[in-house]
Amino acid sequence: MTVDRRSFLSKTAVAASTGAFLAARPTAAQDYSDYSKDPRPDVADGAWTVGGPDGPLFAGSAVVSGPAADEICVLQPVQRLATGFLEYAVEDGPWQRVDADNDGLAPLSEHVLKFRLPVLPPGKLIRHRIVARTAGWIKVRQFYHGEFKVGQSQISPECSFRTLDPSSTKTTFAVWNDTHENEVTLKALDRLTNKLKPDFMLWNGDQSNDVHFENQMAGQFLAPEGLAIADKWPLAYVRGNHDCRGPAARSVADFTGTPGDRFYYAFRSGPLAAIVLDTGEDKPDDSPYLSGMGAFQKMAREQAEWLSEFVKTPWFAEAPHKVLFCHIPLWFDHPRIPGSTSNVAANIRSLCADTLVAAGVKLVISGHTHDYLWMPKKDGQPIAQLIGGAPRPEYAIFIHGEATPGHLNLKMVNLDGTVLTDVTL
Ligand SMILES: [Fe+2]
Ligand SMILES: [Fe+2]
Repeated sequence: MTVDRRSFLSKTAVAASTGAFLAARPTAAQDYSDYSKDPRPDVADGAWTVGGPDGPLFAGSAVVSGPAADEICVLQPVQRLATGFLEYAVEDGPWQRVDADNDGLAPLSEHVLKFRLPVLPPGKLIRHRIVARTAGWIKVRQFYHGEFKVGQSQISPECSFRTLDPSSTKTTFAVWNDTHENEVTLKALDRLTNKLKPDFMLWNGDQSNDVHFENQMAGQFLAPEGLAIADKWPLAYVRGNHDCRGPAARSVADFTGTPGDRFYYAFRSGPLAAIVLDTGEDKPDDSPYLSGMGAFQKMAREQAEWLSEFVKTPWFAEAPHKVLFCHIPLWFDHPRIPGSTSNVAANIRSLCADTLVAAGVKLVISGHTHDYLWMPKKDGQPIAQLIGGAPRPEYAIFIHGEATPGHLNLKMVNLDGTVLTDVTL
C-alpha cells in the first residue's frame, strides 16, 4: 500500500498535537529558540526577528513539475521569507488564483513557494505567474515576534507551457542524467533542450552532490546555475542515490513537484506511456554506510505493489510505447561500478521485472554509471536498456526521445551535439 505524503503529514500533525512526538518534519533554517529568552533586552524594538525588510524576492524562474496535466505543480524559488499565490490562465482565458494554504495558514517559506494546480485540460497553453510578498516579524516592546509585516506585492514574469496531451500522435522529450551540479554540463544540456523544445523534460536523478542545506536546494533542484530549466515545458523529476543523502535529503519533496510528492508515478504524452520508479540508495539497507537509516527495501515493495495495480490502467495499457525511467539501471555490470545483487535497483528488478515485461514495457532509461551504453534485450535481460549521463562535460549525455504510434526513437548525443547512439524500437 502506498502512503499519501499529505495524509501522512496530516497524521503526524495530529500525533504532534497530542504530544506523541515533536518536530514531525525538519524545520527551516530559522532558529526560533531565542524566543525562550523572551524578553530580549539586547534586541532593539523594531528589529527583524524573523524574515527581513522588503526587497527583491524571486530567485530565478518558476519550475513546472508533474508532468501530466492533472498533476502539475509550480515551484518558485525565493530569496527572502515570502508568502504568495499563483495565477494561471488557460490559453487566453481569465486569470485564476491558486493558493497553497495548509491547515488554514497561507504559505510562508524562505526558499521556495510551491503551488499544486487543479486538473488542467490536455494540450493547452497555460500561462502562469506568481504574486508574492516578503514577510517577517519585528520585535515590539517585550514581544520578540511582536508584529507581522509584509512587503509590497511582486509579480513574477509571465511564463507559459503546453500541457501534455495523451491523444497527440507525436511527442518529444529530453532526458538529463547525473548532472551533479556541474555548471558547464548543466548549461550545455539547457542549450540542447531549448533547441529541441520538447513536450517534457525528465531529470533522471543525481541532480545533487548530496543534499546538505535547504538554502542550497533551489539551486540544486530548481534553478541550477540560474537557468530556467522547466518554465516552458513540464519537468518529470526522478530521484537519484545522491539525492537520498545528506541532512536535508528529507526536504527534497519540498523542492520537487511529483504527483502526491511520491517519487514513483506514471504519465502519458502522446503515444508514450512512462513509468518512473525510485531506485533509492545504491547500497543495501544493511550496508554499514547507511548506519541503519535506509528503508529502501520497504520502499521497493511499495513500488512493486503500486506497479502491479497501476499497469491495468487503460491509458497505460493502451499506449503504443511503454518506457520505464529510473536512476539506477535494472541491469548493469560496469567495470568501475560492479552490478550489485542486493541494492535497491536489484530489489526492484526482482520484484518488478515480471510485471514490467507482462505489461509490455519495452525500454528502461537510466543513468548512474556516468557512462553511456545501449543494451538490447537478451537472455537474462528481458527489456532493452539505455544508460547515459555524466557530470563531466566530456562524458555528459543528452538523450533526445521521439515517439509516434509507429516508432520510438532515442538519440544519445554528447554536449557538442554529436550523435553517439541512435536506436529505434
Ligand atoms: Fe551520478
Ligand atoms: Fe547515481
